Amino acid sequence: MNTDDVLHKAPLFSALDREGAAALRTGISEVELHKGQTLFSEGETGDRLYVVLDGKIKLIRTAPDGRENLLSVLGPGEMFGELSLFDPRPRTASAIALTDVRLAGLGHDDLRPWLTGRPEVALHLLRALAQRLRRTNDVMADLVFTDVPGRVGKALLDLAERFGQRTEEGLRVHHDLTQEELAQYVGASRETVNKALADFAQRGWLRIEAKAVVIMDADRLYARSR
Ligand code: CMP
Repeated sequence: MNTDDVLHKAPLFSALDREGAAALRTGISEVELHKGQTLFSEGETGDRLYVVLDGKIKLIRTAPDGRENLLSVLGPGEMFGELSLFDPRPRTASAIALTDVRLAGLGHDDLRPWLTGRPEVALHLLRALAQRLRRTNDVMADLVFTDVPGRVGKALLDLAERFGQRTEEGLRVHHDLTQEELAQYVGASRETVNKALADFAQRGWLRIEAKAVVIMDADRLYARSR
């Protein structure tokens, strides 16, 4: 997909006609990061919002004792860094390249006139924020009500929706997460997550690959995750 197609998927741009999108694009600067590089860290002052053009970025929070919580993995068309636009306070999470990644960055100051001048842009951004709040509520409820295998199943199905590719064998999800990162994503220990994955594999629901899984029986995985 080219840059325009990817941007068009993003909540900011999908509200705009061609002319509007082209005008907004003039304020964009592209950033490239290698796998493992940090774009910004939790607590820093933030003045830009980003849309992923290519590759994947992870958003993490670090506890005082050094443990990490992986909030989200974002791919092409997805947006982040907007919280400090609406609520000018420090960054709420760190953004780190999970793979080599290309991003479109837009200054908060360049964006503000669009929010007030084009209500449809503001509405799309609010919708994206509402979706994130819903997801966060689901994640919180799962931490309380769902066991680790259920949370692993849900996380894989969520990643499959965004990164899954149909193959003859099943749905191949190249999530690019190590087992440690997958554990940080579901809020459990690596051992427990490994055990859940091994159990799913043994039942024939999925096959484990390096930084990927192939889901062969999505229905059973879904039923186990409810
Ligand atoms: P900001 O606080 O500017 O920088 C970190 C970004 O991470 C934040 O904006 C959001 O875009 C994103 N972010 C924060 N919390 C979450 C979450 N729970 N789920 C997904 N993205 C988040």
